[in-house]
Amino acid sequence: MSDHSPALRETVRQRYAAAAVQVTEGGTACCGPKAIEIDDNFGSTLYAADEREVLPAEAVAASLGCGNPTAVADLHEGERVLDLGSGGGIDVLLSARRVGATGRAYGLDMTEEMLALALENRTKAGATNVEFLKGTIEAIPLPANTIDVVISNCVINLSTDKPSVFAEMFRVLAPGGRIGISDVVADDALSPAQRAERGDYVGCIAGALSFAEYREGLASAGFTDIELTPTHAVADGMHSAIVRAVKDRVMDPTGVVKPAPEDAHCGCQA
Ligand SMILES: C[S@@+](CC[C@H](N)C(=O)[O-])C[C@H]1O[C@@H](n2cnc3c(N)ncnc32)[C@H](O)[C@@H]1O
Repeated sequence: MSDHSPALRETVRQRYAAAAVQVTEGGTACCGPKAIEIDDNFGSTLYAADEREVLPAEAVAASLGCGNPTAVADLHEGERVLDLGSGGGIDVLLSARRVGATGRAYGLDMTEEMLALALENRTKAGATNVEFLKGTIEAIPLPANTIDVVISNCVINLSTDKPSVFAEMFRVLAPGGRIGISDVVADDALSPAQRAERGDYVGCIAGALSFAEYREGLASAGFTDIELTPTHAVADGMHSAIVRAVKDRVMDPTGVVKPAPEDAHCGCQA
């Protein structure tokens, strides 16, 4: 499930840095001399017009996702949301509007150029409940049990250590917390080599898990109520999918796993 290659991660970082620079210079991440090859299955066309209209043009132009996780995560006023691989910030800014002044939206990205673009977009949007963090999704720079909802848009397939990503999502979620993720997922019948024939790693295809691998990875990290729902095809036998799961148990200091307390379902204000 993992290729812990630092070289591969560096290739990913360089390609997304180039995409961010392209947007900063007035282009879009998807068009012109392409840093990343994408088509209509990816990017801002996956958002409703009324969502795009309320955002800075550069946040929309930088959209490189394969879904719209804020639409599936059912966010509520007061919740704390973390977007893994937040890019130009489109899903963080949309989340911030949904959780309101009493909530908080965090974006995490490893690419300096993307973070710079996201910070500019935060200023343009006038968002005051948004924070962008530099770091990797395999070692999330936040304390345990502090997030209500983890979202992510087409990033986990890019990770070279997916078990660590799943374990970190579980760690930072508060008991009762949930994930609402869009990602590329492969049919179970496709071998890793067949996935790589359909597209490259930085283009979000070769590194995709199969449905069974995704389910197993989340279950091994402790998640329950796991649902994977394909939404549209992105290549032969490969899909954009919505991934949902819940952290309904906690580990006490002695290592005993227990159900999460009933009243711990979110950080919403009463
Ligand atoms: C396909 S883009 C998606 C960006 C954003 N979610 C969107 O929908 O536009 C992938 C983003 O994830 C970041 N990324 C990739 N691998 C990462 C990792 N291991 N840790 C942190 N960020 C990562 C890249 O820098 C890039 O900004």
